[in-house]
Amino acid sequence: MSHIQKTDPDLFDILNREIEREESTLELIASENFTSPAVMEMSGGVMTNKYAEGYPGKRYYGGCDHVDEAENLARNRLKVLFNCDYANVQPHSGSQANMAVLMTFLSPGDTVLGLDLSHGGHLTHGSSVNFSGKLYNFVSYHVSRESGRVDFNEVKQLAKDHKPKLIICGGSAYPRFIEFEQFREIADSVGAFLMADIAHPAGLVAAGIHPSPMEYCDVVTSTTHKTLRGPRGGIIMMGTDFENPWGIVAPKSGRVKKVSELLDSTVMPGIQGGPLMHIIAAKAIAFGEALKPDFKEYAQQVVDNAQFMANQLMELGYKLVSNGTDTHVILIDLTQNNISGKKAELALGFAGITVNKNMVPFDEKSPFVTSGIRVGTPAITTRGMGQTEIAQIVNWIDKAIHASDNDGILSNIKKEVNILCESFPIYPHLNH
Ligand SMILES: Cc1ncc(COP(=O)(O)O)c(C=O)c1O
Repeated sequence: MSHIQKTDPDLFDILNREIEREESTLELIASENFTSPAVMEMSGGVMTNKYAEGYPGKRYYGGCDHVDEAENLARNRLKVLFNCDYANVQPHSGSQANMAVLMTFLSPGDTVLGLDLSHGGHLTHGSSVNFSGKLYNFVSYHVSRESGRVDFNEVKQLAKDHKPKLIICGGSAYPRFIEFEQFREIADSVGAFLMADIAHPAGLVAAGIHPSPMEYCDVVTSTTHKTLRGPRGGIIMMGTDFENPWGIVAPKSGRVKKVSELLDSTVMPGIQGGPLMHIIAAKAIAFGEALKPDFKEYAQQVVDNAQFMANQLMELGYKLVSNGTDTHVILIDLTQNNISGKKAELALGFAGITVNKNMVPFDEKSPFVTSGIRVGTPAITTRGMGQTEIAQIVNWIDKAIHASDNDGILSNIKKEVNILCESFPIYPHLNH
């Protein structure tokens, strides 16, 4: 009998309902995935008990021998995976990884360029409701109306006009490869640092399918739980470490500190205390999994599935931002379909298909309503689904959008979705 079942039946029931939901519905949220049982076991293991403020070999607590081993493995595996000089695996989340970079490279009030949230950026890239937009002078760049891709003429002009200290590339709803090289050229033309946020495509970068930011960007952040398929968390990397240009020296020796040292101390003690050692160890497991050849096959299948889905949707007349995808993300613009993103999300949810409403570039609706939905293939690909299932899923999406007010049709789709899901179990070892 499960310990939770014995001690807390309320939570046991809630947990089982969530297991049932994950097993019986189609997860198309582009930022979600299903971790391996090994990652999950480590995430729920004894390392959750350990305080380990500091870094391996330099902790403020005793008893850290084994968590040191785990963190060293995580860092070393990450460096091999992304071919980089420096890795910090402690950020509790992608947002904290971004906060640590901004606080290391900038002073409050400094100017930064980031992709507008409604054009695919992320909250931490300068949204006015986020610390980034409150502490720094963010200037947003956009995608072009015609291509749906970053408008590099605008980025060039904004860089010239505003002389940013830092440019951020990457986002949460950008279906195309991030154009690191073009951003580098612009950053160099105004002496700005370049940060890539690869939270979304990290697994595709690790697999060599998406170009790597390492040779172009000064610093790279990511989450670990999207295409990388690890536990929920953040990471910071640098392709090449370098001496800090702000003249910060080590107090005793007078040696100029490396940026890696500054990043480490911004993460801890700057913005975090004790690291989540159970999660860091689970990150190490996920990085180990991503280093195996079958992860490359998985990542390729994620993109193949997304491109197949994009083509099927376009054949049915749907308009996709940028007319397709290079990655796992598809952004459907429903402006011409007479339905809001909010209503489509609700209808699809009722039909057992989970997506999120999403602003589309130049959206006239509010972020709570939106004109689009974002879909992605990392989670269904982990379940083993391929073209046959995707053709079926696209038909269900189309049917649900057309029948968004018809509960009978939506619940019939849900029954069919449940049957498909039964053939693709995620965690057969879990009781439910
Ligand atoms: C591009 C990007 N950066 C950062 C984050 C933040 O990650 P977290 O939710 O772990 O704070 C996300 C999450 O959606 C993201 O898409």
